[in-house]
Amino acid sequence: MDASQNEYFIIKAKENGVQVIGLTRGQDTRFHHTEKLDKGEIMIAQFTDHTSAVKIRGKAVVMTKFGTVETQE
Ligand code: TRP
Repeated sequence: MDASQNEYFIIKAKENGVQVIGLTRGQDTRFHHTEKLDKGEIMIAQFTDHTSAVKIRGKAVVMTKFGTVETQE
């Protein structure tokens, strides 16, 4: 896989301490990275060879090519 060609997605934190958790690709699905965002901070990321899923904890707006979704309070 050439991950550099993958789509980007954006996470914008709407409160302090939003967690962006990267989950591993492959046989085991486990957390491998946790990023903390404070209110107003954004993270621009891609899915990669190491990251197949992302879990978001806290109030945030997530923008992908599929549209924009918000986590619940
Ligand atoms: N080193 C990770 C990777 O290349 C970094 C990363 C990419 C990441 N996308 C992410 C971490 C999404 C958390 C969430 O896979």
